[in-house]
Amino acid sequence: MSDALSISECPYGICIWKFGWYRGLFVPCRVISVRDFLMHTDEQGRTLSCLMTHEFIIYRKDMVVTMKEKLEKIKAEAIRQINMSDALDKLNDVRVNFLGKKGELTAVLKSMKEVAPEDRPKVGQLVNEAREEIERVLEEAKAGMEKKLREAKMKAEVIDVTLPAQKNSVGHRHPNTIALEEVERIFIGMGYEVVEGPEIEKDYYNFEALNIPADHPAKDEQDTFYINGDILLRTQTSGVQVHEMEKGRLPIRMIAPGRVFRADEVDATHSPSFHQIEGLVIDKNITFADLKGTLAEFAKELFGEGTKVKFRPHHFPFTEPSAEMDVSCFKCGGSGCRFCKGEGWIEILGCGMVHPKVLKMCHIDPEEYTGFAFGVGLERIALLKYEIDDMRLLYENDIRFLKQF
Ligand code: DAH
Repeated sequence: MSDALSISECPYGICIWKFGWYRGLFVPCRVISVRDFLMHTDEQGRTLSCLMTHEFIIYRKDMVVTMKEKLEKIKAEAIRQINMSDALDKLNDVRVNFLGKKGELTAVLKSMKEVAPEDRPKVGQLVNEAREEIERVLEEAKAGMEKKLREAKMKAEVIDVTLPAQKNSVGHRHPNTIALEEVERIFIGMGYEVVEGPEIEKDYYNFEALNIPADHPAKDEQDTFYINGDILLRTQTSGVQVHEMEKGRLPIRMIAPGRVFRADEVDATHSPSFHQIEGLVIDKNITFADLKGTLAEFAKELFGEGTKVKFRPHHFPFTEPSAEMDVSCFKCGGSGCRFCKGEGWIEILGCGMVHPKVLKMCHIDPEEYTGFAFGVGLERIALLKYEIDDMRLLYENDIRFLKQF
């Protein structure tokens, strides 16, 4: 740097600029290397501008002092903000703002290139001291805050054993479910199996195989939703009989509970979707006496020991003979009341001996095997058993209603 311009050579003893034309006042600095330094002065000899044609680096002499002041200010501001923080996330904001990658202290470190190399360790140390100090105050504040939070939490969590307990509102089994479980219990006790069948069913299983051919009037009473000409929403659980018989496993003792569908308007006793429980027994030497004995026992178990049963002749296409079974009114014991509409009897189910045609369609020899079947409405049992006078209540899912059973 033999051709460097020394401070004494500069009229002001000061130079700051990088190369190019510059105007304005000079501030104290130290020139490291200057080549081709030109000065323009006005008539009074004042420097207007200077030209430096080569790059050179100038470090301000007072940089250490300036940096120290700057750091003090940053530190004071950081501490002020820490003291003002009233939450942990606010403290974290302060940390990020001052110590983070884009924080103020980091910015100071980045401006280190303006400091003369021999002053850099000093300034670096100052920055570190400032960082340590801010970190220390931050940690103290954080610990204090966490302690306060812990204390507040402990206070809030004090358990007052004298307070009334909070009641958990738990669900409740639906009256339909309670009734079904009761029916299942009775038949399982008699050695029956509980099976299920499809709700979306073929016309064949819902009608045809049950001896209800295409134009049979019984189909009118059981209109339903047809998915296509062949597939429909089942109108009765009787089709499950056919599925079970087709399996070819004899004897059969089964009940089949499930949802059925009909084109019915909603009212107190009707719904387009309700439930039935189908029953089927197929074995050698099954007679109407077995049917009567089984269903009489069922009625007693369900409605009480004193319950009597009565069979009225009826017609169902898939049973022969067929009957409807009434039970003696379990409210008045048969003398007649509001509940049984003065009749003393309540109709409860349809039943009969499985029609030989049905057996044949299911590849069972009617000469060798006979059987009986029955079908009962689940809602009907629930309504009777729990003395509910409107079927719609069963579908509203109002917990105030449901939890009474
Ligand atoms: N499936 C008939 C209905 O929905 C009820 C029924 C009657 C089922 C007699 C049977 C039975 O199994 O033998 O009306």
